[in-house]
Parts: sequence; C-alpha cells; structure tokens
Amino acid sequence: MQLEFYGLLRPDRTLIMIIIGFESSCDETGVALVCTERGLLSHALHSQIDMHREYGGVVPELASRDHIRRIIPLARQVLAQAGLGMDDIGAVAYTAGPGLAGALLVGASVAQAFAWARQLPAIPIHHLEGHLLSPLLATPRPGFPFVALLVSGGHTQLMRVEGVGRYALLGETLDDAAGEAFDKSAKLMGLGYPGGPALSRLAERGDARLHELPRPMLHSGDLDFSFSGLKTAVLTRVRALEKTHGALSGEHVADLAAATEAAIVDVLAAKSLKAIERTGISRLVVAGGVGANRHLRERLTAAMRARGGEVFFPPLEFCTDNGAMIAFAAAQRIKAGLVDLGDTRHAFTIRPRWDLQDVCLPAACDA
Ligand code: KG4
Ligand code: ZN
Repeated sequence: MQLEFYGLLRPDRTLIMIIIGFESSCDETGVALVCTERGLLSHALHSQIDMHREYGGVVPELASRDHIRRIIPLARQVLAQAGLGMDDIGAVAYTAGPGLAGALLVGASVAQAFAWARQLPAIPIHHLEGHLLSPLLATPRPGFPFVALLVSGGHTQLMRVEGVGRYALLGETLDDAAGEAFDKSAKLMGLGYPGGPALSRLAERGDARLHELPRPMLHSGDLDFSFSGLKTAVLTRVRALEKTHGALSGEHVADLAAATEAAIVDVLAAKSLKAIERTGISRLVVAGGVGANRHLRERLTAAMRARGGEVFFPPLEFCTDNGAMIAFAAAQRIKAGLVDLGDTRHAFTIRPRWDLQDVCLPAACDA
C-alpha cells in the first residue's frame, strides 16, 4: 500500500495525516480528530457518570452497552465539527488497554471495523500513554525530557519521559491509586460517585487542620506511594465523629474532606519534587484525572516556580478520560516512526491489564 492513499506525503517525506481516535476504557466514550500537522481538530465526549451514580460505582456491563450507543453518533459529531468526511481520515486509533474488557472491546471493534472498511491502519494505544502525552495538547507545550506524575483512578506513577515511547518508571503505588484514595474516602463520607471531584469541592470550605491524617510513605526514601492506609484512617475518623455527634454534619464532612485532600496532595507533591531532585530534570508534567485537583495544581505550581522549574498540566477537559489524548498519542507515535502504517491486517486484541513498559522502545525503560 502507498502512503499517499491515506495521507499526504510532502516532498520532504513527512506525512500529513488525520487520525480518528476512540476512547472507551471505562465510563467515558470519547472520540476526536487529530492532524499530525495541525494538532487537535475536534473532539466529543459522553460521560456515563449519571448512569452509574445510582449504583455507587461503574457497572461494567452497563458501561459497555452505553459505549455501543454513543460511539457512532460521537464519531459523526467530530467529523461534522471539523467539516470533514470519512474520506479525509488516514488512520484509526483506539484504546486497547488497560481498562474494562467489555468497554475496551467496543472501541476496539468499532475502530477496527472502520479501518477495515476503508483499508486504513488501525493503531492500538495504551491508555496511560494517552494520559502521559496529554499535557502536550496544551500551550505552552513541555519539551522533553520531563518527569511525569501520572495520577488517575487506577494508576499512580512517576515516570521519566525522554520522548515518545521512551518512558522509565521511577516509582508507583504499592496499593491504591491516588484517585482511588479520593474516591474511596469520599464514599466513606457519603459523597457518592465519583467521589474525587465532590470531595475536592467540599474541601474548599473545610479546615484541614482539624484532622491529623497519615502521609503514607512520605519518608520512605524512594519514589513509591501507598494510599490504602489513608482510607482506613478516614474510616476511623468517620466512626469517631458518628459516635460523638450521631451523624456527620456538612461541616464535619468538609473538614474531613479538606484533611484527606491535604494528605494526598502532600504525598503527591513531596514525591514529585523528590523525582525532580533525583533526575535533575526541571520540567514536571501532571496527567490523569487527579491532575484536575486545584489544590494539587496550586501546590506544584508554587513549588516548581520556587525551584526555578516549570510545571505543565493538560487542559482541564483533557485531565480525565477523553478521545483527544488517544488520537494525539497515535499522531505522536506516527511522527516518531513507531507505527507500521502498512499493516492493515486488522487482527486485534484488547489488553485489560497492560504494563506501560510494553509500549516503550527497547532499552528506553530503565530508570
Ligand atoms: O484519568 P481518569 O479520568 O480515569 C482513569 O483512567 O482512571 O481519572 C479519574 C480519577 C477518579 O478517581 C476521580 O475521582 C479523580 O480522577 N478526579 C479527581 C478530580 N477530578 C477527577 N480527584 C481529585 N480532585 C479532582 N478535582
Ligand atoms: Zn484514564
């Protein structure tokens, strides 16, 4: 197959191509169009939060069925928004993992069917690579290398990022992820699902000093995290308050929310700064849903400024799951020469559990 069939090859042999990206790994259906040359062209998102709320968490089967309902209309929407048709698409990207198996299968099957019908290359993308590169969607854009704090609902990792496909793990959580700590603590306080944003909103009017909560592994000397003990400490506080006052008042919950947020932010900030110190890299990038947390953003911005370094966050709308980061990651991989665009076999597999190191270039993953 000729590259010219699905992209425009310039005289210098660089390729201009439009990629459609599908994200369906959990409870958000996202579709986006990214051009290798002009960046993000359009994106659309449907969040299933309202649907899962009454169950107190994500119900995988309902998530898959909703992705099926939403994904094609969203694809039509992004094409219409960009004023483009199916013939303008040069490649199809989709989240192949990690995530919920049934949910991943929806995005993967739609993407592969689309690519097969048009004889286009289909590019499986690692969800965390999408998050990791999403700060590059913002202006100003961080240059390489940078230290990335990846904080989502399922992962908490510090990575050294030398370039596209060149990621080295510096440290990670030994148990719960930071987002999980927010969500589980919120649930204990009766804040429902999804707990993180609700907890951080309430924390704004609470007094963090009224509860002394642990900062797990703050002084462990390494770059790993542990958050599972925090929820136990929160549970103990909730029980103590209930015993003394009968039920938790709005004020009690706000104070406990503020203390919980402060504990999580303290640990995330301290370990990120330690990673900056250890690597000697002066650029910090924060990605993933918890990166939307205002307190964390303010803390890291002030700390990095004080050190003469810089910190970068994805635009708020791209902190949580979205299709833009998937199409964008595919564009970056194409530009870095990491995608075999001639491969249009369309045999595919999803990877509900998938280590980010598996998409690293050989020898690029040693910390
Ligand atoms: O990256 P993401 O959308 O999904 C995963 O890939 O996991 O992250 C979702 C996580 C949830 O745990 C959610 O509670 C948390 O991000 N989150 C927040 C905030 N917004 C989202 N946590 C704290 N403060 C926020 N403002
Ligand atoms: Zn995510």
